[in-house]
Amino acid sequence: MAQLDRNLAMELVRVTESAALAAARWMGRGDKVRADQAAVDAMRLLLDSIALDGVVVIGEGEKDKAPMLFNGERIGMFAAQGPSERFGREVTFDVTKLPSVDIAVDPIDGTRLLSLGLPNALSVVAMAERGTMFSPGHLVYMDKLAVGPAARGLIDMRRSVRENLEAIAKAKNKNVSDLTAVVLDRPRNSNYVTDIRACGARLKLITDGDVAGAISTALEGTGVDVLFGSGGSPEAVIAACALKCLGGDMQCRLYPRDEAEKEYARQMGYSLEAVLAINDLVKGEEIYFAATGITDGELLRGVHYTSGGATTESLVMRSRSGTVRRISATHRLSKLRQVSQIEYGG
Ligand code: FBP
Repeated sequence: MAQLDRNLAMELVRVTESAALAAARWMGRGDKVRADQAAVDAMRLLLDSIALDGVVVIGEGEKDKAPMLFNGERIGMFAAQGPSERFGREVTFDVTKLPSVDIAVDPIDGTRLLSLGLPNALSVVAMAERGTMFSPGHLVYMDKLAVGPAARGLIDMRRSVRENLEAIAKAKNKNVSDLTAVVLDRPRNSNYVTDIRACGARLKLITDGDVAGAISTALEGTGVDVLFGSGGSPEAVIAACALKCLGGDMQCRLYPRDEAEKEYARQMGYSLEAVLAINDLVKGEEIYFAATGITDGELLRGVHYTSGGATTESLVMRSRSGTVRRISATHRLSKLRQVSQIEYGG
């Protein structure tokens, strides 16, 4: 798609940086809702400054009733054309030249982590060609299995934890006891914990943030080999975008919480048995991904404040080129205040 020849990820990083800067002021303040609102507001404003015609397919808030970049919302300069309140000035351009994209946002992955000042809260955005991202509707959880490039094509959720660990170990020329599996620490994932322990693999239980958990399986130096277990459906699609950029692999299955969700799935035509491959989660081949650390974490350093400024660290990726960038930025808050409506505090 010629329109997508721009590396939109380079523009997306401004979005996640802004959301992270806006959210970071809320670190440890025990207020998830206001932290999320700050990140959503910053993210939405910056997204509207990008020359694209985007539709939010994976929005914020389905599970937490958080303030939303709601599913179906039109985003980008297309939405901001004409006299724009959001944009604060007249916006005109040739709409036919704008790339049409699906957008997945998670202004804060780890709102609880941020509200308690704990590590690994991130701000994340992904984009792909229009119509290529899976929409889980109101089904908020998926069972997940994610690995890095070495084990691509070798995982299968229909098989046991042991069989998957053995396949991953073989691909990485390791023993199962050398592998580290990440699991979101929830009662619903207790079977995974039991099975992983029974196989003798090492286990890392995380309290939140399974986007970072999934990405860590595909980055050198994290010491993580595989992610198992159920977590948010929006986070599954976002992680699939990241893993496609990184050459990793992922499978998911919808995980209904109760009879009402099973009935909803039946009515909407979702299969609860089907294993969704990474290309079902995001069919696109032109995927852009950006994430910025909010609190310090294993993947990314969080926002740090300096005299009159702040620093951020981001991960920026594009599937077509396979380029993975880490971008460290220094922000001058007094200057940003002159050019932006966003409340960066300080
Ligand atoms: P939010 O910050 O968006 O709430 O997500 C945090 C998170 O830990 C995700 O990383 C994960 O996928 C999801 O919540 C798991 O949901 P739950 O906490 O309901 O088990």
